[in-house]
Amino acid sequence: MGKHKVHTGISGSPFLVHVGLHQDRITDPERHPFNVPAIVRGLPLRLKTPVTMLVGENGAGKSTLLEALAWACGFNARGGDRDQSFGEDADGQALGRALHLAWRQRVSDGFFLRAETFHQWIDYMESVGATFSQYEHKSLHARSHGEAFLALFEGRFEDGVYLLDEPEAALSPERQLTFLALLHQMDRSRCAQFIIATHSPILLCYPGATVLKVDEQGIREIDARQSEHVRLTRDFLNAPERYFRHLFADDEST
Ligand SMILES: Nc1ncnc2c1ncn2[C@@H]1O[C@H](COP(=O)(O)OP(=O)(O)O)[C@@H](O)[C@H]1O
Ligand SMILES: [Mg+2]
Repeated sequence: MGKHKVHTGISGSPFLVHVGLHQDRITDPERHPFNVPAIVRGLPLRLKTPVTMLVGENGAGKSTLLEALAWACGFNARGGDRDQSFGEDADGQALGRALHLAWRQRVSDGFFLRAETFHQWIDYMESVGATFSQYEHKSLHARSHGEAFLALFEGRFEDGVYLLDEPEAALSPERQLTFLALLHQMDRSRCAQFIIATHSPILLCYPGATVLKVDEQGIREIDARQSEHVRLTRDFLNAPERYFRHLFADDEST
């Protein structure tokens, strides 16, 4: 990373290598989050590489899992890192308490990025007067969402565990490539571990990532290029008319 990075010398990512579920801590199997099939069928889970991507349909359970992991890692379940507390705690707690984490090397630094609360996080940082040298001349609020996110990534992400929920939401395709370049630098140093929920075909194709498909069957490893997200996007862009003919079929019959 840039010259402002101070690595603490840890270099054994992936640090978090196993996520299990304490069956006896499932408080109510009929209710959220214990009724999410991917969670009950998908755990335990092994994390093999410094970068893991979670992919799956809307509602599959990716955010539920990330929030619980954030809580279990000691981060704020609404987003941020371990020293920050803003807003109400999300539901991550209930599942977080039931998770069992196994670490190859216990690290406590990191960050949980939730797209929904990113601006709240910025408000919080500004309210406590947080300053980062690289942000001195421009408030994070004065940046676009994507710029603020990349500034955060470049300026603040160092060693640790990073849980990112749909980081592409803020990023243009070109900025997604910038994100991949930054990710690669941190991945190569083995000083950071990333678990990223994404719908982005660009992010999914990051080489070296383990891609885990999250669905009602559970959680299993897939080849990114064979994922629905990548295939559908490629097929659509190759021949959008084919899709439109099908999608708008009703219009033609009226
Ligand atoms: N606070 C909540 N209370 C009840 N159900 C929830 C809550 N949050 C999410 N769910 C449900 O849990 C399931 C998984 O949601 P989520 O983890 O957000 O999915 P994803 O992030 O994969 O789109 C969905 O069926 C969703 O409707
Ligand atoms: Mg989600």
